[in-house]
Amino acid sequence: MTSNAQSSRHSQLSSEELVARGKAAYLPVYSPREMILDHGKGARLWDLEGREYIDLGSGIAVNALGHQEEDLVQAAIEQTRKLWHTSNMYYTEPVIRLAAELVEASFADRVFFSNSGAEANEAAIKLARKYASTKKTSGKREIITFNGSFHGRTLATVTATAQAKHQKGFDPLPGGFTYCPYNDFNAFEKIISEETCAVMIEPIQGESGITPAEPGFLKHLQTLCHKYDAVLIFDEIQSGMGRTGRLFAYEWEEGVKPDIVTLAKALGGGLPMGAMLTTEAVGKAFSVGDHGSTFGGNPVVAAVARVALQKIRSPQIMANVKRQGDQLRKRLQELNLDMFKEIRGKGLMIGAELQDQWKDQAYEITEKCRHHGVLVLQAGNNVLRFLPPLNITDEELNTGMDRVIETLSDLHSGQ
Ligand SMILES: Cc1ncc(COP(=O)(O)O)c(C=O)c1O
Repeated sequence: MTSNAQSSRHSQLSSEELVARGKAAYLPVYSPREMILDHGKGARLWDLEGREYIDLGSGIAVNALGHQEEDLVQAAIEQTRKLWHTSNMYYTEPVIRLAAELVEASFADRVFFSNSGAEANEAAIKLARKYASTKKTSGKREIITFNGSFHGRTLATVTATAQAKHQKGFDPLPGGFTYCPYNDFNAFEKIISEETCAVMIEPIQGESGITPAEPGFLKHLQTLCHKYDAVLIFDEIQSGMGRTGRLFAYEWEEGVKPDIVTLAKALGGGLPMGAMLTTEAVGKAFSVGDHGSTFGGNPVVAAVARVALQKIRSPQIMANVKRQGDQLRKRLQELNLDMFKEIRGKGLMIGAELQDQWKDQAYEITEKCRHHGVLVLQAGNNVLRFLPPLNITDEELNTGMDRVIETLSDLHSGQ
């Protein structure tokens, strides 16, 4: 089945030829699946040969409203026809409006726009350090992050990322980062001190396996951050923008208010954009010239992001996230093949951890799913990760899950 979108075959090259060219020309830091995705609509994608896939990964939580969402496309076209870059020397209306709407929708008073998640976190790290330096002329430089975290690939954010595999070979790494076991209340209490300037955490760890913070953990961090005058940073790059059924995942925990939240992925509705949201009190540590980015706050992306934000916040989308999240879990649980140790996560951010029998096979399983016409992600080597579009329909979800279940059943019966 193909959609009515035109297949862009200007190249006249076969998928195999294109893949071979990609392999020859790309710096080999990725291992893309060997197919050429050509076009998409809703939660469906088609490759160059016209094979259909249900997209249960949304380009790693980016395409929160699926592919070719009519209003997003329209916003992009309209703004593209007007103005698509000015630099931050000048104001543009879409960027101003988006910043104001993010402030209105959140705890924040101030917004800094970047192009990616790593840059949003880099901005957060710099702001926290600068803020501490306004209070103490020496010391108070330490940033606590958590084992299993993922905060990005720049040198500072890869150091914040408490996973040795991402840091190997890049030393010397920037100093001042300390790691704490995730969800370990006592360990955190022992590690935080007067030297701590910030604590950075994913309310649900994404890349390392969809692990939610235990109830009370974020509150515990907040209490101790207040005690030691440290800035509390929530990295909501994967878990934010409605993914869990609320705008930010931390909102599931009562009484928690961060000093900084970082966003990217779904923020631009599929186009590249990151943001650091903060309070007036912390934000005022930055003044003109302290930070910046040539592309940060692009008007075309902002025009799209405004529409995405409005839609994502709607009660209809939030209700869909809950309903489809419940349905996705139910389908995995009903499978009843004892393939999973645990199914965890919130809303449409779901991880299914494989039993030891299937240890380290997440990649192979996602490949088998792809051959059955459904795109599923992995998180680490042992977790199947599901991040479908937030507006996925019943039909799309059920077709996708039928294909997942079929794949897993075949695998289980050794086919
Ligand atoms: C929680 C989290 N933080 C930061 C990042 C880095 O974002 P980017 O790849 O846009 O730099 C990611 C990317 O997966 C992420 O999941």
